[in-house]
Amino acid sequence: MLSNKKIILGVSGGIAAYKAVELTRLLTKAGADVHVIMTHAAQEFIAPLTFQTLSANPVHTALFDLIAEQEIGHISLADRADLFIIAPATANIIGKIAAGIADDMLTTTVMATKAPVLFAPAMNVNMYTNPIYQENEEKLRRLGYLFEAPVSGSLACGWEGEGKLAAPETIFDCAVATLTKKDLSGKKVLITAGPTREEIDPVRYISNYSSGKMGYALARAAQRRGAQVLLISGPTSLAKPYGVTVVTVTSANEMQREVMARVDACDVVIKAAAVADYRPELRNSTKIKKKGDSAIISLVKNPDILSELGKMDYGSRPRPFLVGFAAETDALAENAAKKLFEKRLDIIVANDVSKADAGFNVDTNRALLFFKDGSSTDCGLMSKDQLAVTILDHVISRLTEQPGA
Ligand code: CTP
Repeated sequence: MLSNKKIILGVSGGIAAYKAVELTRLLTKAGADVHVIMTHAAQEFIAPLTFQTLSANPVHTALFDLIAEQEIGHISLADRADLFIIAPATANIIGKIAAGIADDMLTTTVMATKAPVLFAPAMNVNMYTNPIYQENEEKLRRLGYLFEAPVSGSLACGWEGEGKLAAPETIFDCAVATLTKKDLSGKKVLITAGPTREEIDPVRYISNYSSGKMGYALARAAQRRGAQVLLISGPTSLAKPYGVTVVTVTSANEMQREVMARVDACDVVIKAAAVADYRPELRNSTKIKKKGDSAIISLVKNPDILSELGKMDYGSRPRPFLVGFAAETDALAENAAKKLFEKRLDIIVANDVSKADAGFNVDTNRALLFFKDGSSTDCGLMSKDQLAVTILDHVISRLTEQPGA
């Protein structure tokens, strides 16, 4: 996701410096070449060796200035960066940069870079709300510097309030979004994810093994590419993706209601949800008691949301680009092609959910994509994040061919 990207991570002196370690891990795991610059104060909180080990690059500190100047040089480092992150960014470092002070390795390199700079501030709540700090942030924002706002919580100083460094995952997501080409900018994308639950009584339900991972990966990838993303999600344990509007539902009927109410003006609809085909005819309001040796639950058909979207009359509005998923355990190509045709889709993503590395509840997938024009492509084994990017590549290349897109 971040391969070939050179990222400078500036760490300034605050207790949250330890969280920059996790951020380094996330960035390097995603393929980025991370170069860490630590201020003198940051080294009071954490040893440079930790960052050096995780980034596999020398860490730049005030002590290393002379060596760094010979081997790399802060100007050259600044020139080659694709992104500059400062996390945690203290009130002091933000104030210095806003005032144009360049008196150490970090401030000098920030001053010299033309790469986007992302600050993740962390400080005491009173410092954060101090008009001097706020004015500095405002000035930097006006100049095009990016900020990932701190969150509320209990602070190391004992105070409660805003000032806690954003989660490393959030800063990571923001960094990836900053580095991603915005080829879905201006587009509205509706994605469904996860299973649905069809209640039998207050303690039991019918559902499936869907984790929601594929739909959430699509939502993240679309958001990073600049789309306005609406994620309608069945029950999952996943964290809300950064910058995405999430609507949670439980049953297929609820999902249908939410999709139909919000599909207006959508450019793309991706239905990754594993919707239960049937629901109990009656939901018992009290727990069903055990009786006899067998029990029968009468089921009735749920609405097929995707079919409805395929057949709907959109009036004068262009029909959204429709992407469906086909979860199969046999006759993959045949079943997927049938669903593509019957649900009137533009693309169907078919995966064999009987395979251990594909489909429900795993981080990888093996998908075959079938297109409306009869062509297809085999994506092979890849992570759900990578597959999400590939699916969106195909959507974008076809979307631009459609009238009204
Ligand atoms: N889908 C839907 N509403 C349903 C069932 C499925 O919108 N009630 C959508 C899914 O989100 C998916 C596609 O239709 O994008 C195919 O879902 P899948 O479960 O593979 O197939 P079904 O159409 O349910 O057919 P079958 O269960 O017979 O394979």
